[in-house]
Amino acid sequence: MVRREFIKKLIKGFFILTTSVVAIITTWFLYPTGIRLKKYTFFDLMDEEALPIKGVRRVDYLFKADQSGAKLSRDMAGVVYIVNNTKKIFALSPVCTHLGCLVTYNRHKNEFICPCHGGRYDTEGVVLGGPPPEPLTRLPLTVENGRVFVGFKI
Ligand code: FES
Repeated sequence: MVRREFIKKLIKGFFILTTSVVAIITTWFLYPTGIRLKKYTFFDLMDEEALPIKGVRRVDYLFKADQSGAKLSRDMAGVVYIVNNTKKIFALSPVCTHLGCLVTYNRHKNEFICPCHGGRYDTEGVVLGGPPPEPLTRLPLTVENGRVFVGFKI
């Protein structure tokens, strides 16, 4: 009887250990290293006075590699949307969460529209329609000494 219970506990312990190891290994491989390790690097985007008082403002940026303090190995250009919804100011990535096309802001509809498959987002980045599975990515934004800094994963 004692031997039978010992074997049962041994099998149970082995099962728990095996499933735990499999879960850890699976998680490790399913979550790509690039995403795991990348952190935000902040770049000087613009003057604080250029922040929108209300609404959405598109900002085209060009960060030069030779002026980035060795953060960049080559120039980085792109677009970011700065949104002021009167409660909070935040930055939105224009990259559609469906297949990565760049959304544009439609001032008349007050929403972001993806030209590829018609994905639509509100000014908070929340999906309104179409195939996008997730909201637009919010990028960290800080204001220091009159300058606006936005974080990018590079
Ligand atoms: S890539 Fe934007 S809706 Fe498909």
